[in-house]
Amino acid sequence: MHIKAIRPDFVAEISEIDLRLPLTDAQVAEIDKAMDHFAVVVFPAQELNDDQEFAFAQRLGPLEETRAVVDVHKQRLPHHQMNDISNLDVDGSILALDDRRRMFNLGNLLWHSDSSFKATPAKYSMLHARVIPPEDGNTEFADMRAAWDRLPEKTKKQIDSLVCDHSLIYSRAQLGFDSFTEQELINYTPVPQRLVRRHPGSDRKSIYLASHIGAVHGMPRPEAMVLIRDLIEHATAREYVYSHKWHQFDLVMWDNRCTMHRARPYDDKNYKRDMRRMTLTDSAPTLEQPA
Ligand code: OGA
Ligand code: MN
Repeated sequence: MHIKAIRPDFVAEISEIDLRLPLTDAQVAEIDKAMDHFAVVVFPAQELNDDQEFAFAQRLGPLEETRAVVDVHKQRLPHHQMNDISNLDVDGSILALDDRRRMFNLGNLLWHSDSSFKATPAKYSMLHARVIPPEDGNTEFADMRAAWDRLPEKTKKQIDSLVCDHSLIYSRAQLGFDSFTEQELINYTPVPQRLVRRHPGSDRKSIYLASHIGAVHGMPRPEAMVLIRDLIEHATAREYVYSHKWHQFDLVMWDNRCTMHRARPYDDKNYKRDMRRMTLTDSAPTLEQPA
């Protein structure tokens, strides 16, 4: 296994490993160590099928049980723990312009951390590129530990012990999507999460931000939302963002506990983009983890 840093403390490329083969304990430990330091890791040219991607993810830790979707009855992928990050319908054709699933998926274009709207959120996400459009559709990443480090002391004190409510309904509302069913409203009831957490693998503090945030406990809503916007703007300043240009069969893995990411637009009316994501679950709700 060869690890090449893209930036000294953020994003590495790992080559000379075949993810189709069962990983040894030493390989798992080496990947975890790279993740603890770099938070985002790119494995180029891994030609995996669904079963192989599933097995690789499962080897790294417990998987999330449920996918976050609307229209649950219209699922293209058989593995119920594999997230369909594509613009495709069940039959493989491009989703209609006004399809609810397309509207909902556009929420991935907002900066977020996967599953922060679940009581126990996500640890690692692994996104594998099966089909990519001829141009655009990058995925961007920001390091939330570096974002914490460069906050003014005054802001660190102000936000250190704050708690936020996260929900998919809040992120989708920012794009004007509000046609949730009664069942979806129940499924996506807001959950509380710490705004500042400690990343166990590096023992560094990190700002836990996402467009899923819709309230900060003990703060009037507009004041809370202005604060969250300011923090997201701070954390995603261009010079700190890594933009991943996809090649077919790249597998990119990120640590949701200390990064944010977002999809960038592409011509999804004319080109297919088929990405499949496995997700590991974190150990507990953030309020039950050490601060
Ligand atoms: C995800 C996600 C971004 C993209 O898979 O969780 O946000 O570029 N993907 O598809
Ligand atoms: Mn995501």
